[in-house]
Amino acid sequence: MFENLVAQPADALLNLIKLHNADPRVDKIDLGVGVYRTGQGDTPVFAAIKQAEAKLLATQDSKAYLGPEGDMGFVHALKPYIFGAKDSDGAVNMARIEGMQAPGGTGGVRLAIDLARRAGIKRVWMGTPSWPNHAQIVAASGLELKTFSHMTNAGTADLDALLGALRDSDPATDAVLLHGCCHNPTGVDYTPAQWDQIAALFGETGVLPILDLAYQGLGHGMEEDAYGVRKVCAAVPEALIAYSCDKNFGMYRDRVGAFYVMTRDGADLEKALSNGAAIARASWSMPPDHGAAAVRLILEDAAMTAVWLDELDTMRARMRQVRERLAAAGRIGPIDMVAVGAQSGLFSMLPLNAEQIMTLRSKHGIYMAGSGRINIAGLTVGNIEAFIGALADVTA
Ligand code: LMR
Repeated sequence: MFENLVAQPADALLNLIKLHNADPRVDKIDLGVGVYRTGQGDTPVFAAIKQAEAKLLATQDSKAYLGPEGDMGFVHALKPYIFGAKDSDGAVNMARIEGMQAPGGTGGVRLAIDLARRAGIKRVWMGTPSWPNHAQIVAASGLELKTFSHMTNAGTADLDALLGALRDSDPATDAVLLHGCCHNPTGVDYTPAQWDQIAALFGETGVLPILDLAYQGLGHGMEEDAYGVRKVCAAVPEALIAYSCDKNFGMYRDRVGAFYVMTRDGADLEKALSNGAAIARASWSMPPDHGAAAVRLILEDAAMTAVWLDELDTMRARMRQVRERLAAAGRIGPIDMVAVGAQSGLFSMLPLNAEQIMTLRSKHGIYMAGSGRINIAGLTVGNIEAFIGALADVTA
């Protein structure tokens, strides 16, 4: 039986973790998978999470099943962070939005795409390059992938390509998948003014938006990073949103995510959620509880929330400093480091070819994705000069 299988390559991003771990060089640099690192190169558990876990340990009195929707206290506690305060100007209509917990942002995207398929979506448009798993999830759901360019040659967001894709889409069968902020892999986000245009065109065309918000708070701030999601949700009758707490709460391996659906009315919302629950039941039955419960405890407690937001500020400030140092390097061969300095979030994508990326790995012990994507947070005061020097070496 199993001789019929075609062997699959290991996931390129996740495989980088193993390759880097196996490298004995002490001065190796890991710019691969997207985890935040401190200036010492560590990815510690957040202090707020430690506090919440201590409280959870002391107070949790049962681990009985919760159901396919997971911890709804967690799902509701996140809602104002994502969609904004109820009474703000141009506010999203919260009554038409409900969610479910999901195993990480990936689980949220999978739920969104599977639900879109059940509702009649046949094609998903996506800007490229994108997080490689987006295309894999679309394929695994049996939908057709259509692409447009995410970035211009000048390294800015290619708004025209997205607007063109929206105009070319058929609202009866097409959805457009966008990154809410901190675009993975380019770090190139739409500006607020561009989001205004995008939201207006979603509203005009009636094409279904699928918004993936996986890095809220790592770009410009919790509020700022939600601008696009809120604008689009305020302009359209229906939307799907995938959310990840894996980065902004540092919960990577605990798989903490959510999925939200916005519908025209309450009857549609009930139908959508019942389908979401059915998809979850057949896929993972219910999401893992621990991480989401810890996040909920933080969000329910003003003091722990303040600790968490402070940690997030520190992370963002550190990544900004790294970008400033890179920008100060100016141009390195074909690489415009000033543009990298202006980008947002964990990632930027350097215009390096496969040979240069392999030389960086073999000669300099620098690990990055095959696309040229680097994890900005992998750079520290201790290794950034070596990294800049190595880039100059391979691009000379
Ligand atoms: C990444 O892009 O490195 C992260 O989102 C981790 C992952 O699951 O790929």
